[in-house]
Amino acid sequence: GPRAFSTRGALGFQSVPPSRADTIVVPPGYVAQVIASWGEPVGIAGQMPPFKPDASNTAEDQALQLGMHHDGIHYYPLDGSRRGLLAMNHEYTDDGLLHPDGMQPWTPEKVRKSQAAHGVSVIEVERLPDGRWQMVRPSRYARRITVHTPIAIAGPAAGHPLMRTAADPLGERVLGTLNNCASGRTPWGTYLTGEENFIGYFSGPKTPDEHARRWGLRPGSWYRWHEHDERFDAEKHPHEPNRFGWIVEIDPLDPTSTPVKRTALGRAAHEGAWVAVTRDGRAVVYSGEDARFEYIYKFVSRDPIRPGGARANRELLDHGTLYVARFDADGRGRWLPLLHGTGPLTAAHGFADQGEVLIKTRQAADLLGATKMDRPEWLAIDPLSGEVYCTLTNNSRRGQPGHPDVDAANPRAGNVMGHIIRWKEAGDFDATSFTWDHLVLAGDPANERPEARGNILGDLFACPDGIAFDSRGVLWIQTDAHASQLHRGEFARFGNNQLLACDVATGEVRRFLTGPVNCEITGLTFTPDLRTMFLNVQHPGESPSDRSDPADPTRYSRWPDGGRPRSSTVVVRRADGGVIGT
Ligand code: FEO
Ligand code: CA
Ligand code: CA
Ligand code: CA
Repeated sequence: GPRAFSTRGALGFQSVPPSRADTIVVPPGYVAQVIASWGEPVGIAGQMPPFKPDASNTAEDQALQLGMHHDGIHYYPLDGSRRGLLAMNHEYTDDGLLHPDGMQPWTPEKVRKSQAAHGVSVIEVERLPDGRWQMVRPSRYARRITVHTPIAIAGPAAGHPLMRTAADPLGERVLGTLNNCASGRTPWGTYLTGEENFIGYFSGPKTPDEHARRWGLRPGSWYRWHEHDERFDAEKHPHEPNRFGWIVEIDPLDPTSTPVKRTALGRAAHEGAWVAVTRDGRAVVYSGEDARFEYIYKFVSRDPIRPGGARANRELLDHGTLYVARFDADGRGRWLPLLHGTGPLTAAHGFADQGEVLIKTRQAADLLGATKMDRPEWLAIDPLSGEVYCTLTNNSRRGQPGHPDVDAANPRAGNVMGHIIRWKEAGDFDATSFTWDHLVLAGDPANERPEARGNILGDLFACPDGIAFDSRGVLWIQTDAHASQLHRGEFARFGNNQLLACDVATGEVRRFLTGPVNCEITGLTFTPDLRTMFLNVQHPGESPSDRSDPADPTRYSRWPDGGRPRSSTVVVRRADGGVIGT
């Protein structure tokens, strides 16, 4: 990646006001451009079905087009900051929008189209002489990874009895990845994508066992795939859910490569994964689990990163130690190893081997007494200080009857606004202890209700989700307040979801971009010269899933092109071609 600047960059742009408009707003002197919307062909030669605005593209078309609900995204240079690849996640589908007649009736073809609209896209993009960007089509790199793409399983849980199914008796190969939320770029050039709310794709038994209960497996499923695809009926295929919830590694530069689920990093409702490097060259992968009262993890590789890119490091993430975080009230914290045979992680407590510890990461972390957090979303590593930041987006059940009470790290009951925590490892990134504090408690500082009052210095926001440092050391914060909350009550002064920049040295927060109606702003990546920013607008016009009556224009966004709302990538540049944010 790009080398960090040695002094922290200042914020040099004019703040934009909160917005309710169905458009992207950027500061004076900046331009925003939409590319790569849902349904555009990714650019596989000879296979480029155009998007049909009435959503009548087939499942086969969709498997060749950008998926729905863009999320994490990273730029991979082919020609520096002028031409490169974008790898991006498609987190989930809004089936009311995906099909001309919504979910009525619900058919096998609609399930296949939903599955084809999930996963990851790799597209090639280039900057034109006038500063605009466009997709390069066809491109030999163009690729879709969907719920039907063969993916290898590697690491200690590969081949484990709990990973075996009738279709895969060896437990070494699974079809597809899903609910890909955030993503990280490794120093050896690959893409790491999280499988976040995977459990919602499976219909479970009426009488769940302890493992199913701990992971929230219930009869029925959010996406109703199990009604037409038996693999997602966990009553019939009880091990299939164990094959999801992993970090998946993809080599975007090799379109023939097989993606790999890296089980050594643990199974969780992973938001994403972010890599730091120790002084002796080992990879440290931070991840969190975006679910109420779940955990923050880090993995330390056994071996150093080798020169030679993806090929030379194809087993790097299969060997190492996984830890879970405990935040103590004195501002210190510990990384607790999830190591079979250590402490309570033994056969007597239900863990036959390391594979079972990793498949049951939540149960193992429970036994170790890790700290239950307020929905850890993205992490980011400060390139100047080495501090690690994590967004805790919200947790309305904190401190409520029957749920864990507040603690020092998660200090607000009924936490609807969210906060950002940060820590400094005691020494190098592989340290087993750290010191921590809060960067900010989100929320309106004028709110009279203490639990929702924020301590933001500068522009207001709620529900931080995506965060990323640029190489100047500016922290960018993206928000995901739910559509049902926006513009109402305590959320009245925040406006639409947005992107802000934070000078972490002073704590100042400044609003940089506001999104269209009912979208979430997510995914952020820069060209190495910091003169182009790519971000994703997810689910403009978010509403209940079944839109069999899509006629009401007041409820829905029509962004970006006046028709059916479409998740899209937005390119932001300075009109004068200068460095973003200065
Ligand atoms: Fe997919 Fe936690 O956001
Ligand atoms: Ca998110
Ligand atoms: Ca979120
Ligand atoms: Ca969302």
